[in-house]
Amino acid sequence: FFQMIIHLTILILPYLVCSAPIRSTQQPNRERKLPEAIIIGVKKAGTRALLEFLRLNPHIKAPGPEVHFFDRNFEKGLEWYRSQMPESEEGDITIEKSPAYFISKTAPSRMKEINPKMKLIVVLRDPVTRAISDYTQASSKRRRLGQMPSFERMAVGNCAPWSKSNCSVKTQGVNSHWGAVRIGVYHKYLQRWLKEFPLAQFHFVDGQKLIDDPAEEVKKVEEFLGLKSVVTPSDFEVDSVKKFPCIKNPDGTHHCLGKTKGRPHPKVDEPVLKRLKRFYEPENDRLFSLIRQHFQWE
Ligand code: A3P
Repeated sequence: FFQMIIHLTILILPYLVCSAPIRSTQQPNRERKLPEAIIIGVKKAGTRALLEFLRLNPHIKAPGPEVHFFDRNFEKGLEWYRSQMPESEEGDITIEKSPAYFISKTAPSRMKEINPKMKLIVVLRDPVTRAISDYTQASSKRRRLGQMPSFERMAVGNCAPWSKSNCSVKTQGVNSHWGAVRIGVYHKYLQRWLKEFPLAQFHFVDGQKLIDDPAEEVKKVEEFLGLKSVVTPSDFEVDSVKKFPCIKNPDGTHHCLGKTKGRPHPKVDEPVLKRLKRFYEPENDRLFSLIRQHFQWE
């Protein structure tokens, strides 16, 4: 009798072990879907905050890391892209965020090829603040290699002598070729996207409002995604040290973004700030008429 029990156990055990994961992947209503909406940019405008806040809505499913499919990983194929997405159920919307897409030359047409109905979310922020944020991040990464030149030196000094357009009267003496400054000329990059997708498929988030009133900005995105809005002001509390909103958990604890978000910025000389503002004024006007929306950036 004992021999029979042992024999049966040996036969049945592998089935019991193997059936568990099979059952879980075969749950009828769960699947990995390709994204229907993507936060395509802009780097340092608040894209991580937006993604984290959107995930408060249980119908929004998103991978944590940036996927970089349409710029760096396109050759890996659609099934690889799908495998990066979390499982979702019917009625859920899968999204991802890779802010480098915004400035990528190949991303717009590749994305259209895969889904011409893709919803595109763009977080925009005062380009002067965004440039300082970009510089702060770069200089913190460069710390190991030695101090980076000051923001002022990068923005209005360090002009490349071979380029006529650099630091010209037309650019208010601003080094418009420096990446931190260049990305803030939003309309130039957007035009590339608007060649592939109609304006109605875009939603623009004001990165400053996302800090001042996150629930309101998140609500607009939930509506844009066709979801019932569930995120409310009671989901947030401002961190007393960093002065940025954090997520309030039901148990009273807080979830703030990591230490690489909400870094203190260096104080930039007033004349340099003024030159940057003057440089961006016509560029912002071009953006606003392109997107038929105005942002109050001081
Ligand atoms: P700083 O760290 O320079 O202040 P991204 O996620 O697109 O890289 O943007 C980072 C920026 O998001 C941060 O730049 C910060 O200003 C902004 N931000 C917006 N909401 C935030 C929040 N709730 N917590 C931390 N940073 C936030």
